Amino acid sequence: MADVDNAIPEAPAPMVIETERLRLRTLQLTDAEAFLPIISRPEVMQWTYQDPITDLEQAERWLSARALGPDVFNFAIELRDRPQTSTTTPDIVGVCDHFGKGFATEALRAVVSALFERMPLASIGGTGFDYIEGRTAADNKASQRVLEKAGFSYCETGLQDFENPLRGKSDSVWYRIARPGKTLRELGLVPGEVNGDGDKPPTPPIQ
Ligand SMILES: CC(C)(COP(=O)(O)OP(=O)(O)OC[C@H]1O[C@@H](n2cnc3c(N)ncnc32)[C@H](O)[C@@H]1OP(=O)(O)O)[C@@H](O)C(=O)NCCC(=O)NCCS
Repeated sequence: MADVDNAIPEAPAPMVIETERLRLRTLQLTDAEAFLPIISRPEVMQWTYQDPITDLEQAERWLSARALGPDVFNFAIELRDRPQTSTTTPDIVGVCDHFGKGFATEALRAVVSALFERMPLASIGGTGFDYIEGRTAADNKASQRVLEKAGFSYCETGLQDFENPLRGKSDSVWYRIARPGKTLRELGLVPGEVNGDGDKPPTPPIQ
C-alpha cells in the first residue's frame, strides 16, 4: 500500500498566461536558480514569513512548497519581448530594477481572471468560491497599491498576526475581490460591514 503521508505532491498541469508585456508560466522546481537572486534579497523577503534564502538547496525547498500540489496556482513572470538567456535559466521578472513599471499589477490582473475561470462558483456543489483574498504586511504599501490597482478592496486588519524574522511582528491587511457578476456587498464582505465569522463565506483555499 502506498505511503500517502510521504507521497511527494505532483506538479500541476503547466499553464501559460500571456498579457501585453508578460508571459506567466506555471512555477517549476527548475526555476530555483533563476529565483535565488530575488529571494536572497532582504528587501524582498522582509514581506514574507522567511529569512532571505542563501543557497540553491534552500531555494529548491522554497520552490517545492510553491510549485507542487493539486491547488497550486503560482507563476514565474517573464518579459515577452526579452530573449531568454538560456533554456534552463529564464529571465524572471522580480529584481528591483523592474519595480514601478506596472508589471505586478499586469500580472495580478491576469492571474485573478484566470483563477476565477478555474474556480467553480460557490453555488456549484458547495466547493467553489466567489472571491479571492490578498494579504500583505500592513507596512507593505507597494503591494497594497498593486492590489487596489487590480480591483481589490481593503476589508480588514489583522492585529500583530504577521511575523517576519527580520522585522518581527506587525499587523497585516486583508483585501478581497469578488467574482465578475458578484459584489463584495452581496457576499457580506464590504469594508466596514464585515459580519461575524459565522456569516462569512468560506475562505478560498488557493493562495
Ligand atoms: C510589491 C511589488 C511586487 C510591486 O511590483 P511592481 O511591479 O513595482 O508593481 P506596480 O508597478 O504594478 O505597482 C506598484 C505601485 O506601488 C506604488 N508604490 C511603490 N512603493 C510604494 C510605497 N512605499 N508607498 C506607496 N505606494 C508605493 C507605486 O507607485 C505603484 O503605484 P502607481 O502605479 O499608482 O504609481 C514589488 O515592489 C516587490 O516585489 N516588492 C518586494 C517583495 C514584496 O513586497 N512582495 C509581495 C509580498 S505581499
